[in-house]
Amino acid sequence: SGSRGVLYPHGTAPGRCAGSPPRSGVAAPLRAGRGSGRARCSRPCAAAPRTDPSAVPGGSVLTRRCTGAAAARRTGRAGRGRTTSGNTNEDVDIPSRRVLITGATGLLGRAVFKEFNENNWNTVGCGYRRAQPRFEHVNLLDCIAVHDIIHDFQPHVIVHCAAERRPDVVEGQPDAASQLNVAASANLAKEAAGVGAFLIYISTDYVFDGTSPPYKETDVPNPLNLYGKTKLEGEKAVLENNEETAVLRIPVLYGEVERLEESAVTVMFDKVQFSNKSANMDHWQQRFPTNVKDVAAVCRQLAEKRMLDPSIKGTFHWSGNEQMTKYEMACAIADAFNLPSSHLRPITDSPVVGALRPKNAQLDCSKLEMLGIGQRTPFRAGIRESLWPFLVDKRWRQTVFH
Ligand SMILES: NC(=O)c1ccc[n+]([C@@H]2O[C@H](COP(=O)([O-])OP(=O)(O)OC[C@H]3O[C@@H](n4cnc5c(N)ncnc54)[C@H](OP(=O)(O)O)[C@@H]3O)[C@@H](O)[C@H]2O)c1
Repeated sequence: SGSRGVLYPHGTAPGRCAGSPPRSGVAAPLRAGRGSGRARCSRPCAAAPRTDPSAVPGGSVLTRRCTGAAAARRTGRAGRGRTTSGNTNEDVDIPSRRVLITGATGLLGRAVFKEFNENNWNTVGCGYRRAQPRFEHVNLLDCIAVHDIIHDFQPHVIVHCAAERRPDVVEGQPDAASQLNVAASANLAKEAAGVGAFLIYISTDYVFDGTSPPYKETDVPNPLNLYGKTKLEGEKAVLENNEETAVLRIPVLYGEVERLEESAVTVMFDKVQFSNKSANMDHWQQRFPTNVKDVAAVCRQLAEKRMLDPSIKGTFHWSGNEQMTKYEMACAIADAFNLPSSHLRPITDSPVVGALRPKNAQLDCSKLEMLGIGQRTPFRAGIRESLWPFLVDKRWRQTVFH
């Protein structure tokens, strides 16, 4: 497993040991997990962190042996570690809390990775087609690869963002979508349980039929489309395989995108910008556009709360609180950039093409709010920040000068 391009904290490039000792001495409330059952290294580890009771919640004292890729991924266990990088020894500060993020190359996963990484977590991200060079390449359908990375890194927390989340793609490729959204999630939950990791499974408001909003966590789901059904089956599968799981349901997302098509919100930008052409916009489905940075902050707050309180588990809802149709979002985008909106046409009929969508699946977020968890960026500010690199004027400048 040492061949993967893992994100090593500076100066912790691995040697060549294949094994690692069982996870031990991890402080309450997170359980100590099993060992990987693979070959163990027997010599004292150059990368073994020195004890630092304050670095792990609960203040456990840790001693470890082993070098290599697994150790390098885990060097955060006790905070400050002396590591070997080539011929030079150097001290590095590595956070003691470890988080693994699946789907770290995706819209939400990138924000989640950044949020944990910038807040004193030892963070490893996994991707698939876009993994290299920043992230670990792990196909979640490959059980051995999943087992290896979890047992090598021994995360305290796993945020599972990877999924097939495009309803029309799920309708077209139901088996592939089910493998990723359900079977791979179940396997991940099992592996997370094996090392005592707290799993956050990202789910969707599309588990509800949208007929009686707002929805509490206790309301009975009734997904209208196959995407919602696979995500709901994924929820059940992770909870069955790992009691120490949180399911976090969220609505339509926007944020910093690599391409406008990455988000159902940002994809409207060119129709807004090219005002010489009229554009039909859905004015039937009620949405609550939510900034990925806010969801990422909620995931981190949830993880940190859980490290202090083992009762944090089960289902939670998070959402922005500005209700808008796509037409209203497009008008708000125009407003945020001082662009005209008179070419945008509201369509009030329910859509006749594509997968069925719930009319209004508003999520009640009071359970997380009562825990003191939450963050909401106003839509106009968040969308401006996300879309300004895609302004036609800006793109023109980039073409000319770069
Ligand atoms: N986007 C929304 O509006 C929205 C709304 C509600 C809920 N959600 C939920 O939020 C989560 C994140 O969505 P997103 O919009 O960030 O999705 P996304 O941008 O489409 O990203 C999907 C991620 O899954 C990874 N992936 C795909 N197949 C994989 C495989 N076989 N093995 C490992 N990784 C694989 C992709 O990796 P590569 O790209 O590297 O292949 C990518 O990182 C999902 O659970 C989704 O259901 C999203």
